[in-house]
Amino acid sequence: MPRSNKSWNICNTVATMRFQPLEKLINLRDGYSRQFKIDNLQLLLTQRQGEVHLLEANCPHRSHPLGTADIDGGVLRCPLHQYEFSLADGRLLHATEERCRGLRLYPVIYQGNELGLMLED
Ligand code: FES
Repeated sequence: MPRSNKSWNICNTVATMRFQPLEKLINLRDGYSRQFKIDNLQLLLTQRQGEVHLLEANCPHRSHPLGTADIDGGVLRCPLHQYEFSLADGRLLHATEERCRGLRLYPVIYQGNELGLMLED
């Protein structure tokens, strides 16, 4: 097998992660909704029908705040143009104008009596 004369630069960087607490478990209940700004992320933490969801706080269509979005049956409906997104995987389910990307969802991490998310350091 011929040997290549190319040299390769291999970067061995390892990202470290840190737990970012957002809320105490005791404060959660159905109907809970709160926005957070962490670094450059705008997040919305919400609980509906016993399920906790952590997602981007603005609609991927035209950035309308989702703090007052209608959430029911695993579907989030943006109040501005009624686009609908799946809370299971963020995909766009219904668009009334041009399509847009899906909603960014973040895994909820439970640690002790708090929940939050993992962020890169
Ligand atoms: S800004 Fe949310 S549907 Fe248009």
